[in-house]
Amino acid sequence: SKVFLSRDAASLALGASRIAREIVEEAARRNVALDLVSTGSRGLFWLEPLVEVETPEGRIAYGPLDVSDIVSLFEADFLKGGAHECRIGHLEEHPYLASQTRLTFARCGLIDPLSIEDYRSHSGYEGLARALLLAPSAIVDEIRRSGLRGRGGAGFPTGIKWDTVLKANAEQKYVVCNADEGDSGTFADRMLMEGDPFSLIEGMTIAGLAVGATKGFIYIRSEYPHAYRTLTRAIEIATKEGYLGPSVLGSGRAFTLETRLGAGAYICGEETALLDSLEGKRGMVRAKPPLPALKGLFGKPTVVNNVLSLATAPWIMVHGAKAYADFGMGQSRGTLPVQLAGNVKRGGLIELAFGATLRTIVEEFGGGTATGRPLRAVQVGGPLGAYFPEHMLDLPLDYEALAAAEGLLGHGGVVVFDDSVDMAQQARVAFEFCAAESCGKCTPCRIGAVRGAEVVDRIIAGLEREKNFALLDDLCRLMTDASLCAMGGLTPVPVQSALTHFPDDFDKAPQLPA
Ligand code: NAI
Ligand code: SF4
Repeated sequence: SKVFLSRDAASLALGASRIAREIVEEAARRNVALDLVSTGSRGLFWLEPLVEVETPEGRIAYGPLDVSDIVSLFEADFLKGGAHECRIGHLEEHPYLASQTRLTFARCGLIDPLSIEDYRSHSGYEGLARALLLAPSAIVDEIRRSGLRGRGGAGFPTGIKWDTVLKANAEQKYVVCNADEGDSGTFADRMLMEGDPFSLIEGMTIAGLAVGATKGFIYIRSEYPHAYRTLTRAIEIATKEGYLGPSVLGSGRAFTLETRLGAGAYICGEETALLDSLEGKRGMVRAKPPLPALKGLFGKPTVVNNVLSLATAPWIMVHGAKAYADFGMGQSRGTLPVQLAGNVKRGGLIELAFGATLRTIVEEFGGGTATGRPLRAVQVGGPLGAYFPEHMLDLPLDYEALAAAEGLLGHGGVVVFDDSVDMAQQARVAFEFCAAESCGKCTPCRIGAVRGAEVVDRIIAGLEREKNFALLDDLCRLMTDASLCAMGGLTPVPVQSALTHFPDDFDKAPQLPA
């Protein structure tokens, strides 16, 4: 029998390798033959460690498992889908998964990430086959018409970015994948790289064909060793099988790929700092213009895209621009892989068409707070995103709607807090984070973040409140308007949202004389 178990880093953290060992040992003790297949995660983390067993009725899931469950699983004949208190049944029918629209994550958790045959039997490389039949401008046009926007956070139209690189005149062009997923509470890039690495490789190859780039780099944060190993191995396999190399699938068109590890700086997720780091320099933000699309890696025209943007390109090439654009709302087309984390009962990966509300995510999928206490705040879009109170949960997940609510959708991270959170402290955390991660190139961010934490401290202590509130407001405006990049420019977002929606938390200290 085939038993599927995730080797995703989150699954391993939840004990998947101990479960694997126990299953193999127990099977040996009982003289039962089984084939343990490592997959990525399905993203239902509260049900992990989770195994799925291939039966004539399809895959049957069991979870969350403890090592102490393994003997009883065998006794319950789980290899034939037998009854057990951990039996979930068909995972596709579980409401958490059944109500999702998995396009980018269609294969994640289902296939063996390093089996190119498995990938191909699930529509893998069909997008590349179609792209190879098209002129570069036709590929770009397909992506443009799909409405795909950059999933790293800024939401810039991918087709326009590719078109800029296509039209740039240069001997050498590059495709760079930004896999420096640094936002707190986000893990979609990692899950995809570990669970379906060929989709990213295929997406980058399509991007290369579209813009005329022959070389690509995947810049992975050092905190993702599993993703790094999986992708490096997947590139070796794809190269050996002719999907990468001097003549992709015998087409005469070259595309090669390499992985690079970061060294642990949040700012290297900013595209120009990332390019500096790739070039072997310290990761410092470059002034834009020139845009990386025109002068990027080693000064050459470069597509810099997030993992999810690139990994979605194959789906669009297979199903067509219209099929993708049919999902979503307003200017946000297609699907968004939401990452639900923090103080929530059922955290995980939720891919939905744009337009679902925060309430749907947090209450229907998440099942409320893990502690059972009332929900107080939800931070959307990473550490530089806004905190929203409970009464704003009906906001739809859409780039423009979040921006209109003075927040940002970012990379789709949603972090839940219960009523024990102190929002004045959270405002301080934003400045502290910025002070630690600032690249130091511009004054508003380098100095502003340090001064911001000090001002919040004085407010919390009740010192010269009016003066310090005015100072904080002034500082936030300065950082927003005068920072060179989004790091300093967005740090005021969580601070101001905390001040707007949770003013009482700044008002707890006794009034003290200066
Ligand atoms: P941006 O708005 O400056 O640029 C967006 C992208 O569009 C860039 O790649 C830029 O080069 C490109 N672009 C702009 N105009 C163009 C044109 N005319 N032709 C071709 N390309 C063009 O935003 P930025 O600074 O790249 O990203 C900021 C966002 O990053 C924030 O909104 C935040 O949500 C997100 N972020 C994501 C993190 C993560 O871990 N994924 C971490 C921190 C921030
Ligand atoms: Fe560097 Fe901060 Fe300025 Fe960005 S805003 S360039 S991180 S100092």
